[in-house]
Amino acid sequence: MSFEAMWRDLSPVGRSGISGGYHRQPFAAAEREAMTWFTEQCRARDLRLRMDGNGNAIAWWGDGPGGVLTGSHLDSVIDGGAYDGPLGVVSALAAIDELRDRGVTPGRPIGVGVFCEEEGSRFGIACLGSRLATGSIGPQQAASLHDRDGVALLDAMAAAGLEPDLGPSPLLQDVGTFVELHVEQGRDLVDRDRAVGVASEIWPHGRYRFDFRGEANHAGTTRMEDRRDPMLSYAMTALAANKQARLGGQRATFGRVDVIPNGTNAVPSQVTGWMDARGESEEALAALVGEVERLGTERAGRDGTTLEMTPESVSAAVRFDRDLAARISGVLDGAPVIPTMAGHDAGVLSAAGIPTAMLFVRNPTGVSHSPAEHAEMADCLAGVTALADVLAELAR
Ligand code: GLV
Ligand code: MN
Ligand code: MN
Repeated sequence: MSFEAMWRDLSPVGRSGISGGYHRQPFAAAEREAMTWFTEQCRARDLRLRMDGNGNAIAWWGDGPGGVLTGSHLDSVIDGGAYDGPLGVVSALAAIDELRDRGVTPGRPIGVGVFCEEEGSRFGIACLGSRLATGSIGPQQAASLHDRDGVALLDAMAAAGLEPDLGPSPLLQDVGTFVELHVEQGRDLVDRDRAVGVASEIWPHGRYRFDFRGEANHAGTTRMEDRRDPMLSYAMTALAANKQARLGGQRATFGRVDVIPNGTNAVPSQVTGWMDARGESEEALAALVGEVERLGTERAGRDGTTLEMTPESVSAAVRFDRDLAARISGVLDGAPVIPTMAGHDAGVLSAAGIPTAMLFVRNPTGVSHSPAEHAEMADCLAGVTALADVLAELAR
């Protein structure tokens, strides 16, 4: 099946009829349907499919150690785009087809992998599947995670028909190298007029929960000066985060808020906001988060509220294997080697000591984590050819 046909097949799965965005949260119906589609594609290609107890899957062409793994993820952020994740999986399957059409017999096995809950959209930890597989998060910590409705990770997996067995994954034992293809989430390749690029590094980043607590009270009868309103402390902290990130050339976003009781005519008792922050270095990230927490605490003091800050998912800086990136850039006619501020399973595998690289496919607007995310078909096909070239070289 061609790339275009696979893309058409997968497109309706989990797409909202209202926004056109994707809702493929891990272990829920749409993401399971995408995984079933993946297993059927693997079966149709006679790939040897293996699943682990974390919800990850790898399908191998060939047998033995030291394999070259490619692939990405099929889950999405809430109301996300079509490309973030699936482009890497569909391109991997298409690249295997292209290699077979070329008559290539790889000297090393080639695998297509799908890692689960890459976005952390349901259980809050980014790259949960690859973190469990590499042991960078323990099974006990993962087992304590719950989604927004209070469903525990293990229960969600069991409800999806899986038999959870969380922890370091035997699937990774056969992986010698990992190459993840991904839609670019910026406009670097547009500016450089190139369809495909290679990743150099990932900025350190994290998710931080800010709990502001005050006093619930009547919106009409409580004098303004008598209130202990955590919404004010939250609002000022969100503004401060934006300002501090801008001043320091870093990134900070409050994209998710919970309000208790969330009633129009009540001063809230609690506001919880989640800050996503990213920095060019670990020092810059720590300074940014520390300053936002300091300003939030100061404001809470003036509002008669309290602030408790909890880091929930923090990822260190990743510097991809320089020699591998240079070799791949060479295979791809000097493709540019560029940094990214987005997190990926490739970063987790790289941090676990697996030689890892990433390919980026041009995104004309740079928009991502949005229904408007896009890549032109010609660029997707160029990505498939580039990935096939890279796999042929690495699996020689
Ligand atoms: C993953 O897409 C992230 O960077 O949040
Ligand atoms: Mn993403
Ligand atoms: Mn992704």
